[in-house]
Amino acid sequence: MEAYSQLDTFLTQAETDIQSANSIEELESLRLAYFGKKGHITALTKLIGKLPAQDRPATGKKLSNARSQLQTSLETKSEKLREKTRLERLASEKVDVTLPGRRAASGGPHPLSRTMFRMQEIFSRVGFDIAVGPEIEDDYHNFEALNFPPEHPARAMQDTFYFHDNLLLRTHTSPVQIRYMANNKPPIRIVAPGRVYRCDSDITHTPMFHQLEGLVVDESTTFADLKGVLEYFVQEFFEQDLKLRFRPSYFPFTEPSAEVDISCVFCKGDGCNVCKRSGWLEVLGCGMVHPALYSNVDIDAERFAGYAFGMGVERFTMLRYGVDDLRIFFKNDLEMLSQFQ
Ligand code: DAH
Repeated sequence: MEAYSQLDTFLTQAETDIQSANSIEELESLRLAYFGKKGHITALTKLIGKLPAQDRPATGKKLSNARSQLQTSLETKSEKLREKTRLERLASEKVDVTLPGRRAASGGPHPLSRTMFRMQEIFSRVGFDIAVGPEIEDDYHNFEALNFPPEHPARAMQDTFYFHDNLLLRTHTSPVQIRYMANNKPPIRIVAPGRVYRCDSDITHTPMFHQLEGLVVDESTTFADLKGVLEYFVQEFFEQDLKLRFRPSYFPFTEPSAEVDISCVFCKGDGCNVCKRSGWLEVLGCGMVHPALYSNVDIDAERFAGYAFGMGVERFTMLRYGVDDLRIFFKNDLEMLSQFQ
């Protein structure tokens, strides 16, 4: 009966081993150690054959019970370990939904676009439509129809980017005046924003820049209307009470022509570095539409009169945001751009 009591010790030891297993892998090696071909159970089964005949049935039965008990224990323990691993994995993958999320960085319109939208919005409030024209223009619309004499300096190669066949990159938005008048009858009331190009590059010039053109043609349009509209625009754009000063000037497509200064937005006219101590900033060109243009677009010069103006978008943007270097608009520097969100 010694073998019989040894089985008890064996069973207790095996149970302890199984219960103290810490992982599925450990449990698996225990299973092999007990139930494998060379495992303890196999070895014990062999031993039974060597017992005295009268001891065999009882010991055999006990071993068989021990075997099923251990199998059940292995199963239960395996289940427990699997659950433990699952809980550990869930804990490690846990997401704290109360943490603030990481937002996708959002972009915004470029400051120059913002200025153009702003200009269009201010003009559309007083009845102006938006017109556009091609950036690749022909000599006729960019110069000839705008009354540029053939020897005019703006036609010279150093200013204009030419293609073949009389094509060029428009040097201003004024050709939109011609295109619009050729396709629309008065009353005309438009602004035309867009890119323009000049073969010029230094601290204050970039080869591509932006303008906003204005054109009004109606039966009784006067220089006083022009002054009124520009005063309204400047006031709305800068949200300040600024003075306007009209100085006589020359443009081939307007007569009379004027250049417009506004009182300095920074020093209010007292004189500072930006206005070079003059108290004035030059911001745009304008005038009454030259009658010569009407004959190119089949509008009756006796019946209609108009005014036009053109302004630099970069200049207005710099003055509005206090930017002193034109080149920052074209650097794509995110740190700078994100300040304009
Ligand atoms: N086109 C001119 C330029 O680029 C600006 C300009 C001046 C436009 C007077 C006008 C105007 O419509 O009337 O310098």
